[in-house]
Amino acid sequence: MMRRLLFAEESVMSNALHLLEDLEPSIQEFRDAVLSGLGTRQKTLPCKFFYDADGSRLFDEICNLPEYYPTRTECRLLGEHAGEIAALVGPRARLIEFGSGAGVKIRLLLGPLDRPAAYVPIDISRGHLLAAAAELALDFSGLKIMPICADYTKPFALPALSGSRPGIDVGFFPGSTIGNFTPDEARGFLSRVGRMLGRGSAMVVGVDMPKDESILLSAYNDKAGVTAAFNLNLLIRVNRELGGNFVLDRFVHEARWNGVLGRIEMHLVSRCDQEVRIGSDRFTFAANETIHTENSYKYTIDQFQAMAIGSGYKPKAAWIDEAGLFSVHMLEVHE
Ligand SMILES: C[S@@+](CC[C@H](N)C(=O)[O-])C[C@H]1O[C@@H](n2cnc3c(N)ncnc32)[C@H](O)[C@@H]1O
Repeated sequence: MMRRLLFAEESVMSNALHLLEDLEPSIQEFRDAVLSGLGTRQKTLPCKFFYDADGSRLFDEICNLPEYYPTRTECRLLGEHAGEIAALVGPRARLIEFGSGAGVKIRLLLGPLDRPAAYVPIDISRGHLLAAAAELALDFSGLKIMPICADYTKPFALPALSGSRPGIDVGFFPGSTIGNFTPDEARGFLSRVGRMLGRGSAMVVGVDMPKDESILLSAYNDKAGVTAAFNLNLLIRVNRELGGNFVLDRFVHEARWNGVLGRIEMHLVSRCDQEVRIGSDRFTFAANETIHTENSYKYTIDQFQAMAIGSGYKPKAAWIDEAGLFSVHMLEVHE
């Protein structure tokens, strides 16, 4: 992994916006993941590679779709309970957000927080991360912002803070991004993050809940076709960055509910028998064969709290909207 430092947007003349720590995955990592994923019997592509500049823009559009209940429901919950979260967290906390995206939800937590020591947004999508950090610096002048472009499934170190800091570290993982991991991966991620933050730290996690299949299917199969464009953008990215020759209209987006595993699955379905080249590698597709691109697991409060306890956390609070669509959990790192 290449490690280099870049100046964050020079146009932002705030000395509170720190240098970007750049651990963006290399093109070789992307190539290896794509070739190995397309070489398995059920072809797969890792969802973390959705997020190039176009993918991040499309995800932000998804968040505003009428069918996509998670974003507005989670924002409402965070807005309603930010005061309680701030009281549990205490003064001078350092906030560390995993998959910070457009940086919309952190604003809801920052408002009532007592003199936060710093904000560390971590995201794989470098340009989007920089733009969001620069905007936040304009709106929260004086807040120390220390962006890291990294794949949070890989080990990396948190920045050192100068001076004494009486507050705790608080991890923030909204958007039900935890649901993109399998349960085993989610436990591994939570345990690793718990060790990174340290005993006595806190973690705030947004978790989507099981619900009527029709609500789920329309959220991931929106009428405007934005989720379809987001899914297909992965093939555009393979073509552009890895020399692929996917013909886009030979694949179609499909979201399926897998009731046995409690997850939404996103697939790209081949419309015909075809062969695709990526550089010198060739992959054959039968008609209706799919590339599985994303999972989105749904957890009840009890299921998620059991997972958190098994990963070294003590549940401190859980908030749900009145329709029981979405939950926000506050956890304490226990082990
Ligand atoms: C589902 S979006 C959620 C965005 C935002 N947190 C929200 O709640 O609206 C996932 C975010 O995590 C980032 N991301 C996905 N996989 C990642 C990984 N392995 N490492 C770092 N960032 C990742 C994406 O770029 C994207 O911004």
